[in-house]
Amino acid sequence: MNHFEYREGVLWAEDVSLELIAETVGTPFYCYSTATLVSHFQEFSEAFSNQDALIFFAVKANPNLAIIRTLAELGAGADVVSEGELRRALAAGVPADKIVFSGVGKTEDEMTFALGKGILQINVESMPELEALSFVASKLGVEAEIAIRVNPDVDAHTHHKIATGRQEDKFGIDIDAAPAIYDRAAQLPGIKPVAVAMHIGSQLTEVSPFQAAFTRLAALVSHLRELGHKIVRLDLGGGLGIAYDDETPPLPAEYAKTVKDTVGALGCKLMFEPGRLIAGNAGILVTKTLYVKDGADRRFAIVDAAMNDLMRPALYEAHHGIVPAREASENVECGLVDVVGPVCETGDTFARRRALPPLVSGDLLVIQSAGAYGSSMASMYNTRPLVPEVLVNGAKFSVVRTRPSYEDIFKLEKFADWQG
Ligand code: LLP
Repeated sequence: MNHFEYREGVLWAEDVSLELIAETVGTPFYCYSTATLVSHFQEFSEAFSNQDALIFFAVKANPNLAIIRTLAELGAGADVVSEGELRRALAAGVPADKIVFSGVGKTEDEMTFALGKGILQINVESMPELEALSFVASKLGVEAEIAIRVNPDVDAHTHHKIATGRQEDKFGIDIDAAPAIYDRAAQLPGIKPVAVAMHIGSQLTEVSPFQAAFTRLAALVSHLRELGHKIVRLDLGGGLGIAYDDETPPLPAEYAKTVKDTVGALGCKLMFEPGRLIAGNAGILVTKTLYVKDGADRRFAIVDAAMNDLMRPALYEAHHGIVPAREASENVECGLVDVVGPVCETGDTFARRRALPPLVSGDLLVIQSAGAYGSSMASMYNTRPLVPEVLVNGAKFSVVRTRPSYEDIFKLEKFADWQG
């Protein structure tokens, strides 16, 4: 469900025409819908209304302060993976006791910062990391409530670059080795093991990998309790997929039922870290057609957005829907076109052989489902300034990240001392 719809032939975000935003901020730009963010968050949270659950938005999906604040106002916590993300969550108004710190390699500085702020939980992913945390916590004279992230060796059936729960993946601690780690954790100063965490991958479109992983998790929790560990929280990660094309991922309600059936009887507080599900279809990237060029065997639409702005197609061969901001009339025939950016590599391709109505220079195109892992993964490759982000709320819109000037971009660089 999203709030980007044609009205009299022009695409609107809620009650604002995208053409108006384009005239105001220029292209390319990201545009997010508050109503869509809210409805995605509410659908997920309602699916768990009869379970004891807390939702931590995975900030990496979309770290814009205004997005985090929108969700924080609905009661969301934050799942962060760096000091930067932690600072963003705090700056956006997420209380420290609603923040969980995940990630495979936290530095001692990051641990010090997180413990100093009194965040809810740190998810530990290795024995040396646990020892480092014990050292930092002891030095600060605090007790860190932790989860061990376990690797259940379950294939999430997703793109191999975003599957995280198989033995060969770098994440977590082998589930069979976990009991020994909990025994060790319980003895370490400054460490209070209260939770178990897992996250088996992203963009899952089936419920069965979750079911397999959560079943293994439930068995582990029972075993840990037999060993005397008081496990009170389970962090089940994120990963629920969205429809980019013709996928039919499980709905939050079906996912919630799987959770209940597998770990519901353990009486733990449940933690979830959805990112894509909340933000993915709440955002689009709006770009302008620069030129249409007929190659020897195909037509190219060269647009002003590029792989540096949205790298998912280049990195994962990911599909994103592309539609014109001005709807073609019904009798217009579509042709096949490659939609490409201006960056100097062939990977800078948003879509190949995509059916689109005839385009001319100046036509606006909308790249859909770009609200998660779009702007957050952007770079300034080819010294292309990061594109602005616009948040719409009903008939209002606001620029929530401005386009940097070239001066801003050069500001962090300087000539070497010997260059004068
Ligand atoms: N929790 C942990 C520990 C994670 O590593 C992630 C995502 C999430 C939660 C949120 O997962 P989600 O609900 O969004 O699937 N750049 C890739 C996705 C990378 C996901 C990384 N971890 C993409 O564009 O598809």
